[in-house]
Amino acid sequence: MNAPDNPPASPVGPHHLTLVILAAGHGTRMRSRTPKMLHPAAGVPMLRRVVAAGLSADPDHVILVVSPALAAHPAFGSVLPPDTAGRVRIVTQSEPLGTGHAVALALHGSPREALAGGAMTLVLLGDHPLLTPGIVAGVVTSARASGGPVTLLTCDVADAAGYGRINRDRDGHVLAIVERADDDPAARAGRVEINSGMMVLATGWARDALAATAPSPVTGEIYLTDLVGRAVAGARPGSPWPVSAVVAPSDVAMGVNDRQQLRDVERVLHERARTRHMLAGVTLVGAETIFIDDDVEIGQDTAILPHSVIGAGTRIGEECVVGPHAVIRQSLIGDRCEVRSSTLDSVALGDGVDVGPYAHLRPGTVVGEGAHVGTHAEVKNATVEAGASVGHFSYVGDARVGARTNIGAGVVTANYDGVRKHRTDIGADAFIGSDTILRAPVRIGDRARTGAGSVVTKDVPADALAVGVPARVIRRNIPRAGGGGPLPEAGTDQATPDQPGDQSIRGGDA
Ligand code: UD1
Ligand code: MG
Repeated sequence: MNAPDNPPASPVGPHHLTLVILAAGHGTRMRSRTPKMLHPAAGVPMLRRVVAAGLSADPDHVILVVSPALAAHPAFGSVLPPDTAGRVRIVTQSEPLGTGHAVALALHGSPREALAGGAMTLVLLGDHPLLTPGIVAGVVTSARASGGPVTLLTCDVADAAGYGRINRDRDGHVLAIVERADDDPAARAGRVEINSGMMVLATGWARDALAATAPSPVTGEIYLTDLVGRAVAGARPGSPWPVSAVVAPSDVAMGVNDRQQLRDVERVLHERARTRHMLAGVTLVGAETIFIDDDVEIGQDTAILPHSVIGAGTRIGEECVVGPHAVIRQSLIGDRCEVRSSTLDSVALGDGVDVGPYAHLRPGTVVGEGAHVGTHAEVKNATVEAGASVGHFSYVGDARVGARTNIGAGVVTANYDGVRKHRTDIGADAFIGSDTILRAPVRIGDRARTGAGSVVTKDVPADALAVGVPARVIRRNIPRAGGGGPLPEAGTDQATPDQPGDQSIRGGDA
């Protein structure tokens, strides 16, 4: 069957644009149980990056071709931005019979306006996470300007690897794309121009041409890339060359077929992020050891120190010092904070908070302005209010620590009774002595104090002092902070309740 004639060149203009994204391949070279498209590249699933780049062209129709395994995967929903629901048509390709087969499926049943003269289809491969809106816009504009049936995005690479090779004639016209399986290895030595996989096609022409394309005798697949040869064969004498190419920098055109290529792509994404932040006034010390995902915001004059990892969804304020060895994800950090050698996951820090080294702040932690969370402290689902201090190797979980309260070394909120979690509520200006165990549920009132080593099993009223195992209230209405002298030993009865002039109550460890 002959290829259909190429369509006449159409004028430049915002014609109907269909976006087709191919994501139905097996991805066998990844050697993974997870579909290739869902593998994160710098924290974001590859396919989501491609969808975002494609949507930036403002297409009239969006068609996503997926495998049954991808469609059934629980994480599949996360690849489409929330506002695109209903706008994206999902087409399932039950067998990966080739990129050409996938596009033919996508275009099957296209509405009339999508096939009209000048209507175009932008094809993106789901395994190209480095595409940018700028590159996509450039290729679409170039396709509209040429009006030809095929516009390719190509690039020069040092190693043509598994890419299709662009074959040009002496005048520089693109003649064909030669896939590796069909190629002469000698033609692939040195720098080679390869097919990035992204192309813009005249939709009606492509639909008919694909219907007329036979599967490869070697693989049994219908290659999308065969359209190039078809367009050339169908060109009318005297008409403009039917295939044009936009040559992109090699780093936007890298595809991911295996985990080494995933590593290469992540390298580019991370470098892009570092460059963006440095140009925006963030100091990165040992920049090549710092990994920052997309959609991270960092304020001016913040310094990130070596070996830090800043994960997606994080916002860091101005004039902070983060690292070395900080691992932060999904967190909001105020201005002038310091976070040293600590792990923060889904937490919020007010301004002027200092954390670490070696602290672990887990989901649901909120730390108020000027508070301190020190060495080896773990905080989970807890609010540490402004000016409070959780100093050393303590565990604060399912709790509130009131403003300016001091939590001594080794304090533990025993929040779990083996069946359920319970809350601990500690008021403002309290002082929890070192090694106190607070058996939840329990409340400690404002300005209350506990002696070192106490095991608190019952509420301690405001302004009271509790000591011992189990802790007993030995004084009420203790003087305000500022008194001196040690607390009685835990588990002893040295102090006499309510005796005037007895030992004052500075205790625990700051
Ligand atoms: C393809 C191109 C090659 C190009 C390279 C760029 C073809 C024949 N080859 O090769 O010229 O240099 O991309 O990375 O097009 N897919 C489907 N259905 C299928 C087969 C593939 O949806 O039946 C999807 C895959 O999920 C993937 C994309 O199409 O997103 C490309 O498939 P892949 O197998 O990775 O092709 P390459 O060998 O990389
Ligand atoms: Mg590929």
